[in-house]
Amino acid sequence: MKIEMKKANGSAANGKAKSERVLVFDTTLRDGEQSPGASMRHDEKLEIARALRDLRVDVIEAGFPMASPGIFEAVRAIARDVEGPTICALARCQNEDVERAWDAVRDAPSSRLHVFIATSPLHREHKLGMTRAQVVAAAVRGVRLAREKIGDVEFSAEDASRTEPEFLVEVFERVIEAGATTVNVPDTVGYSMPQEIGALVTRLRREVRGIERVTLSAHCHDDLGLAVANSLAAVDSGARQVECTINGLGERAGNCSLEEIVMAIATRHAHVHTGIETRLLYPTSQLVSRITGFAVPPNKAIVGRNAFAHESGIHQHGVLMHRETYEVMRAEDVGFGGSQLVLGKHSGRHALKRRLELLGYCLEDEDRLDEAFASLKRMADHKPEIDDDDLRSIFEGRVEHWGP
Ligand code: KIV
Ligand code: ZN
Repeated sequence: MKIEMKKANGSAANGKAKSERVLVFDTTLRDGEQSPGASMRHDEKLEIARALRDLRVDVIEAGFPMASPGIFEAVRAIARDVEGPTICALARCQNEDVERAWDAVRDAPSSRLHVFIATSPLHREHKLGMTRAQVVAAAVRGVRLAREKIGDVEFSAEDASRTEPEFLVEVFERVIEAGATTVNVPDTVGYSMPQEIGALVTRLRREVRGIERVTLSAHCHDDLGLAVANSLAAVDSGARQVECTINGLGERAGNCSLEEIVMAIATRHAHVHTGIETRLLYPTSQLVSRITGFAVPPNKAIVGRNAFAHESGIHQHGVLMHRETYEVMRAEDVGFGGSQLVLGKHSGRHALKRRLELLGYCLEDEDRLDEAFASLKRMADHKPEIDDDDLRSIFEGRVEHWGP
């Protein structure tokens, strides 16, 4: 099997296939902040918005201004300060919401209004108490109100994945007629399977009149751990915007993780690419983690501390001989300092030698390396990770106390 590696910036390595752009819509500051315990201060939101600009996301959903005066102020400050991405505000399909959202983003060089209403039978009956016809009328009114303010209007059919597909077709047709420029398919409760959302997007592209004039978007939650797989399936079926958050922050189990979808596209999808500056993924993840207090699990894909770490001797040897034996991406492409050979009790002599070389030791003397390796193994039985200071002690023969 021949493995085709893509460059992290998303261009196809062989340069043959024509690659289409997938827009990255970041909602860390809106859906992410709805994560219980993740609320952020005004200055912290600005710091994150600037980091998202540097990361080159296409759209920053900065908040839901109607929710509170503090959110309104933060969205407005971001709209005034952050230039580059489109700044978006969320609103229900109601006049006061749309007015408030518009007041918050109107000063941005590029802004978007995002209106939504739930379309599924469960939400229509139990939450809204509305008929299908009333939902369509409200959706159309919301889009028209937004279009009176600005040309860039997104419409979301909340709980789209549990909506009758023929009704979703009708809703999308009507909001496109009313002027929506992006239509979004949220898997609001993270219930979909990848093949289902893929089939839904295919059907929408086939049946919705006017769909070719707008951007089709996916917004997936992670309740079954499938948000990234579902977003990728939507992209494979023709969605050209993905809504996501840094570290997968978001309501309940969170949203599609930005770093994961971006690197999955960069590494495996030759037919599409994003504009993300992937080398800023790790620092941005760290920033969001520090501000929200939500720790990144060590084994989290792409940005976890161990995502590129190798402890077992067999893996370390393989990576030292040829990186691609155990790595499908380059650590530096996502912002890590380089592949990390963690020294512990499973490590081998090759990794020890490489780390000692990096610390500036000369290793001509094989006996000295053998001694250091034996000391490493003794120390590792007592200490799970061996750091650089430990290695200096080992190599300089100052580790007798770790002996049996
Ligand atoms: O999950 C959802 O349905 C949402 C919409 C407001 C887009 O966050
Ligand atoms: Zn959501």
